[in-house]
Amino acid sequence: MALSIGVPREMESGETRVALVPDVADRLLAMGDALEVRVEAGAGRGAYHPDAEYEDAGCSVVGRDAVLAADIVVTVAPPSGDDIDALDDGQVVIGFMRPLEQPGTAQALAEQGVTALAMELVPRISRAQKLDALSAMSSIGGYRAAIRAAERLPKFFPLLTTAAGTVRPARVLVLGAGVAGLQAIATAKRLGAKVFGYDIREPTREEVESLGASFVELEVDIEADQDESGYAEELEKEKQERQPELLQPHIAEADVVISTALIPGQPAPLLINEAAVEAMDPGSVIVDLAAPNGGNCALTETGEDVGAHNVQILGPTNLPAEMPVHASELYAKTVAAMIEEGLDDGAFAPDFDDQIFADSCLTRDGAVRNERVQGLLNPVEEEET
Ligand code: NAI
Repeated sequence: MALSIGVPREMESGETRVALVPDVADRLLAMGDALEVRVEAGAGRGAYHPDAEYEDAGCSVVGRDAVLAADIVVTVAPPSGDDIDALDDGQVVIGFMRPLEQPGTAQALAEQGVTALAMELVPRISRAQKLDALSAMSSIGGYRAAIRAAERLPKFFPLLTTAAGTVRPARVLVLGAGVAGLQAIATAKRLGAKVFGYDIREPTREEVESLGASFVELEVDIEADQDESGYAEELEKEKQERQPELLQPHIAEADVVISTALIPGQPAPLLINEAAVEAMDPGSVIVDLAAPNGGNCALTETGEDVGAHNVQILGPTNLPAEMPVHASELYAKTVAAMIEEGLDDGAFAPDFDDQIFADSCLTRDGAVRNERVQGLLNPVEEEET
């Protein structure tokens, strides 16, 4: 029997992406007769892929029930409670599962006997780069944040010489120079701004400078280690508390601040306090990409654009959904790479001893497999052991 892959329509408000685009489905289907792709009617609409395009690619367009009954269900957002109820023992779900933010979802998936593979948990090893959905989405977020800032700033980004006089370039400060931050730097630079970058991981200095931006030096050196995946380790409390005060003069000089600082599984570090916002010029813009994790700015309201002290503070939660065509295409490629990686003679039979599947496996055989998520679900028991 053919291995079926189901692509449901995303139900979260504002979600425009789809987990598999027709081109990528076509490529998967070309791998052999033993595959079948079922797409829910309208699943690709938000990403500008009509049902007919999926049909042309060899997919069948069906209702939600048939999609949710597929051997592998691929999603962007984690499945809702109702969808999890519709799933059965032995089915596989691949998608963003927000493991640390929504451990209850993992619990429900485990209880249902579902094997859930979380794209957030894909290890950051070179062999798994083509499965790195987080980086793909972060790049889009960084790009979009710079574009949004340019659109909202009541000033030019580039230096401009006109008959009426010369306009100085905007100053853009990017806090956190990971994947999103570096893309924001590159984009702001291309738009002609004078760009500054800051991070607590030492290797980022070279990356910031290689993009033509200046690295911000604080009066007191604050540096963090990075783990083997490249993520920053949490700063000591004392250092973390000094950061906003040390950053304030740099923030005050900026027309735009794009903040992207995150520590996995932690609330976003506070980098921009109210005094720093107040010190910015009227009309300045802050785009806080850390908004879903509480924000790097004290005045950020998650999901809202607010004004405070004459500064515009944007707290977007899903910038990739503003670019659904490329976001879906790139995401679909990472999901398809995960499927391909687990295929064995026409069946989906991942090797759970392989680091890719060992790490990304959130639930299997009725249990939550990720230790951090287990810890979140059973905090007391964790302490006792
Ligand atoms: P992220 O989204 O978790 O964090 C963004 C940035 O915030 C990081 O650069 C972090 O150092 C910085 N940050 C955290 N706390 C801060 C603070 N208090 N002040 C200032 N900055 C702070 O990380 P992201 O962007 O997902 O990845 C971070 C790094 O991981 C990458 O730059 C890269 O080195 C590595 N990586 C490796 C990959 C691979 O080997 N396949 C793939 C993607 C990333």
